Amino acid sequence: MNLEQIQKLESQLLLSTYERYPVLLHKGRGVYVYDHKGRRYLDLLSGIGVNALGYAHPALTRTLAQQAKLLVHTSNLFYHEYQARLAAALTKVSGMDRAFFTNSGTEAWEAALKVARAYARANCPEGQQPKWRILALEHAFHGRTFGALATTHKEKYRAPFEPGVPGVEFVKFDDVDDLEQKFDATVCAIGFEFIQGEGGIRPVSKAFAEKAHALAAKHGALLIADEIQSGLGRTGRWFAYQHYGIQPDLVTVAKPIAGGLPLGALLASEKVSGCMHPGMHGTTFGGGPLACAVALQLLHTIERQRLLKHVQKIGAYFLRRLQELQFKHDSIREVRGLGLMLGMELKSADLAKTIFKQMLERGVVLNRTDETVLRFLPPFILQKQHVDHAIRQLDEALAKNTAGLALTAEKRKQ
Ligand SMILES: Cc1ncc(COP(=O)(O)O)c(C=O)c1O
Repeated sequence: MNLEQIQKLESQLLLSTYERYPVLLHKGRGVYVYDHKGRRYLDLLSGIGVNALGYAHPALTRTLAQQAKLLVHTSNLFYHEYQARLAAALTKVSGMDRAFFTNSGTEAWEAALKVARAYARANCPEGQQPKWRILALEHAFHGRTFGALATTHKEKYRAPFEPGVPGVEFVKFDDVDDLEQKFDATVCAIGFEFIQGEGGIRPVSKAFAEKAHALAAKHGALLIADEIQSGLGRTGRWFAYQHYGIQPDLVTVAKPIAGGLPLGALLASEKVSGCMHPGMHGTTFGGGPLACAVALQLLHTIERQRLLKHVQKIGAYFLRRLQELQFKHDSIREVRGLGLMLGMELKSADLAKTIFKQMLERGVVLNRTDETVLRFLPPFILQKQHVDHAIRQLDEALAKNTAGLALTAEKRKQ
């Protein structure tokens, strides 16, 4: 079937929840994906932050093929050899103590919210009402299931499904005063992305993160870090919170963890883990042997190939090249991010839409988030020549669409 036939069929048969790019993908190799006609695209989005080792990485495909022949699914009624080994690898790099495996990011976040409520209940003095309020941040994105949705800020995601899960309040992004005002002894948890992804690649400040940590400790509430997009090496460290020197009580991971197979995890401190008992939470598929074996291979490969160092270096180079573009083009408002989690905020949503589309036509995949921000989440194996190519294409696309603005930038330099 060709693209048009598939588009027609999907429009008749699928719930219309997605606005897909008009590209029919066929295969991927390294940092490139290929469409059904063999056209090559440089992928700077990696399946929205999933394909950290690019496409068809030999170590991952080998493990995938070997494990598929042995055991794909067991249910969580049985033991298999990979959950505990993966938990050991994850707890080692995160400084956490225990893991619960899920199928997706939203389920990991859902598990975190449930644990936060269970922890508050388990630690509530007799005769008192358990703490139950949850604080989240404006512009946050934590997923699409009901609990996650309640902590996701954008009105357009929540409004069609109201009433949502009660007890959630949003704190103004990075606003320490607002945080202090809303944080009291009725709060059981504060959860946030140390670097917001969907919200436009926005890091919280050290002052805000430290205040959240201190207030959580003061009120016996939990600090939950959503590392679903930023975690497992994307920012050049295993986790974004490690740039801040803060150890959360709960951490959620997903996206890159199993090389594209559906897997997520909630990581918990020992202090918190004691509130969970058999039957309180579970999943049929989460943490199956195939996904866990591949995830273990992914973590080993990141370590073996010293990819964290590489992400730091290539990320700094990419950021510098984006900053050079910013100097040249008045249409760029800001460039920000860490490692290979980068954003370029343009002066208008229309321009961001146009540039994103034209980049796709030019054979470079990226996306637009928070209306005006071009987002880059490339595979960790990205090299300088790929960055240079992307920058050339961006430079040309910006110049073509903002001739007047580029001119003023030139004038400014004279
Ligand atoms: C920070 C963050 N949290 C949660 C999610 C939800 O993950 P999933 O789409 O796997 O449910 C996402 C997805 O983009 C995310 O970026």
